[in-house]
Amino acid sequence: MTETAAGIRIRPLDELDISAIVAIDEAISGRYRPEVWERRISYYLRRAPEASLVAEVDGKVSGFMLGEVRSGEFGLEEPTGWIEVLGVDPAQRGKALGRKMAEGMLEHFRSHGAHSVRTLVDEEREDILTFFSSLGFEPAGLRPFVKHLEDRRPG
Ligand SMILES: CC(C)(COP(=O)(O)OP(=O)(O)OC[C@H]1O[C@@H](n2cnc3c(N)ncnc32)[C@H](O)[C@@H]1OP(=O)(O)O)[C@@H](O)C(=O)NCCC(=O)NCCS
Repeated sequence: MTETAAGIRIRPLDELDISAIVAIDEAISGRYRPEVWERRISYYLRRAPEASLVAEVDGKVSGFMLGEVRSGEFGLEEPTGWIEVLGVDPAQRGKALGRKMAEGMLEHFRSHGAHSVRTLVDEEREDILTFFSSLGFEPAGLRPFVKHLEDRRPG
């Protein structure tokens, strides 16, 4: 896809990226969750093989961004690009990997008929809020609602 002088390459997500993404998630969250990522990555590859991207630094996968174009959800009839999951290796932050992946995804969304791109960010995550603001995202008039469900499973 694109390669820069700094050895940064942005390319579509691949099945073989699972272990690198598991490692990045572990560095971010402190949790080792191979099954979660296997399921999640298969989901995105099945639904929209070219939409989700990874960022390599000198050939090593150091960031990922997963999403797709959807329409009809939440009363939003027009095709909308959604950025749903993202992560950059803490050791490789501040090198515009996040920005470059987002630009690549936006280009994909545009070419698939989307006129806007949306994401949901926890209000307490100042880092992610600032990241998306710096990419030109602004608060939307769409409000998340939640109701917690008690666990009624036997046992
Ligand atoms: C948010 C994140 C993707 C940014 O990645 P990155 O590659 O370091 O970001 P970039 O270098 O592309 O930065 C792009 C812009 O965002 C801003 N930004 C990035 N990280 C920031 C932070 N922690 N605080 C404030 N601003 C930040 C940069 O200043 C930059 O702005 P500028 O271009 O106007 O100078 C990365 O920090 C990350 O993975 N965070 C954890 C994500 C997470 O918790 N994922 C699990 C839940 S989905």
